[in-house]
Amino acid sequence: MSTAEKSMAGLLRPYRWGFAAVVILQVIGAVAGLAPLLAVVELGRTLLSPGPIDHGHVWFVVIAGVVGLFVRLLFTAASSGVGHFLDTHVQLSFRRALAARLGRVPIGWFSRRRTGELAKVVGEDVSAVHPFIAHTPSELVSAFVVPLVSLIYLFTVDWRLTLITLIPVVLAMALVPLFTTPSVTREQHAFDEAMGRIADSAIEFVQGISVIKAFGGAERTHRTFRTAVDDFVRIFLRFVLRMSPIAAGMQLALSPPFVLLVVLIGGAALITSGAMAPADVVPFLLLGLGLTAPLAAIGHGFDDMQVARRAVGRIADVLEVAPLPEPAHPVAPQGHRVELRDVRFGYEADHEVLRGIDLILEPGTVTALVGPSGGGKSTLVQLLPRFFDPTHGSISLGGVDLREIGSDELYRQVSFVFQDVRLLRASVADNIALAVPNAEIDDVVHAATLANIHERILELPRGYDTVLGDDVKLSGGEAQRVAIARALLARTPVLVLDEATAFADPHTEHAVRRTMATVGGDRTILVIAHRMETIADADTVVVLENGAIVERGKPAELLTHDGRFAEFWRSHRSALVAEGKLS
Ligand SMILES: Nc1ncnc2c1ncn2[C@@H]1O[C@H](COP(=O)(O)OP(=O)(O)OP(=O)(O)O)[C@@H](O)[C@H]1O
Ligand SMILES: [Mg+2]
Repeated sequence: MSTAEKSMAGLLRPYRWGFAAVVILQVIGAVAGLAPLLAVVELGRTLLSPGPIDHGHVWFVVIAGVVGLFVRLLFTAASSGVGHFLDTHVQLSFRRALAARLGRVPIGWFSRRRTGELAKVVGEDVSAVHPFIAHTPSELVSAFVVPLVSLIYLFTVDWRLTLITLIPVVLAMALVPLFTTPSVTREQHAFDEAMGRIADSAIEFVQGISVIKAFGGAERTHRTFRTAVDDFVRIFLRFVLRMSPIAAGMQLALSPPFVLLVVLIGGAALITSGAMAPADVVPFLLLGLGLTAPLAAIGHGFDDMQVARRAVGRIADVLEVAPLPEPAHPVAPQGHRVELRDVRFGYEADHEVLRGIDLILEPGTVTALVGPSGGGKSTLVQLLPRFFDPTHGSISLGGVDLREIGSDELYRQVSFVFQDVRLLRASVADNIALAVPNAEIDDVVHAATLANIHERILELPRGYDTVLGDDVKLSGGEAQRVAIARALLARTPVLVLDEATAFADPHTEHAVRRTMATVGGDRTILVIAHRMETIADADTVVVLENGAIVERGKPAELLTHDGRFAEFWRSHRSALVAEGKLS
């Protein structure tokens, strides 16, 4: 069994009794559904037979047919009802399981790309199991029960003609292996790939359309798309040419005229040789056509199963993401001194981004982290709210390893503003009060004022009640300042700020400095800043380069040392001058 099949079996196991009920109800419904058909057949045989007609028998057959019709209605409706009930339950349980697991995976796992894929898994993939759960079982059951019961009945009428009637089905089955020869499989692959290339080049074109237009690359991307389409047409034609004779042969074998022809030729031969009464051919003409139904249903059910299998595979992948381990017995931190000891970390196993960081952040101090882009600053600060756990070494808060502190307690201790700010589709006030849902509006306004965003909020169409995303979209720097207000209102003893270089405008910078100055007190603050004014306010500067600390000390002292910091600062300053941000 493949992983996808195993996960599908495992995820559906709790519902096996439900599926059993669907099948049993459907079997009863399908058998009863044959009664009207068999009644017609039986009537035909009775009325066409020579000799006197047994009226009692005729009435019995008619009533049996009508009762069968009602029983069929009742039971297939019940089966379908249970199937759909199961379907909603399965989908609900999948979504609950996904939500529960997503609540426990490390925050760092949710990159932008992942968030898009996740939306597809939780929405589309979960819904994609619907046909397989609600329809396939009952379709397959009736597709098999009806021909089976017909066959048994036909055998009782005449076994020789029954075997002849089966010839078209056997012919069609003999063609099935031709669909899975290695060369057909190869072409199927080529077909899927060509299809994928079209989708890719279309996405590339649409996603990058603004850049492509602005830089005049439309011609080139158009060409990629055209080549993909031409390729597809060529491969598709080859595929169709190979498949169509097999498909046509199969269709011919299963077509009503062919089936009827076989039955009539066989029947005529048996009747003329005196082996069979003419009236006995009637059931074969009526029921013979239904014998081919399972082949179509299998194909259909197989397609639904493939779709469901792929979807469930992706759901299972998400359910298998390792959760962030929670301590069995959480320990409360004593104070809020942060200590990193020989911390190593890498996003991929073979590439270390942090290579042995030793760092102590004392309460009541501000530590500024500086260094070249890509040096690992953002990575380092993300370890404090446990976006990831270090692969080696330890980080402790108040003398307790972060892994020993419950996540609820950790978020009461640490708040953060990161480069990639995400605001909720909610009012500005709710966004700021995220960690303190029952905050007074005065406190919200106070935090917004400190973060230098109050004036801007008042300019919004509905002030603090403006819904972000719907009513208005904030700029990157404004979003950062809302996030700073949010972190300020949370009043956690530890505050981590990763200011994006791109948004290092005077407003945001001002907000960061004011934050450091006012909230200081006893708090432990770690800040990645880009302006000298901010860095100069810090108690300690730490220079991070290539995943290691290369220099640390008081800012003024470091500048006089003429080491890495002084050098870094000079190049940074000339870059700002060149950009016109500084004179
Ligand atoms: N989510 C991620 N997955 C894989 N690699 C990552 C991820 N985030 C960062 N990296 C890599 O880790 C290294 C350090 O990146 P990081 O973002 O920590 O640098 P930085 O010092 O914050 O840079 P900047 O000043 O530009 O923000 C880079 O090589 C980057 O490509
Ligand atoms: Mg960064």
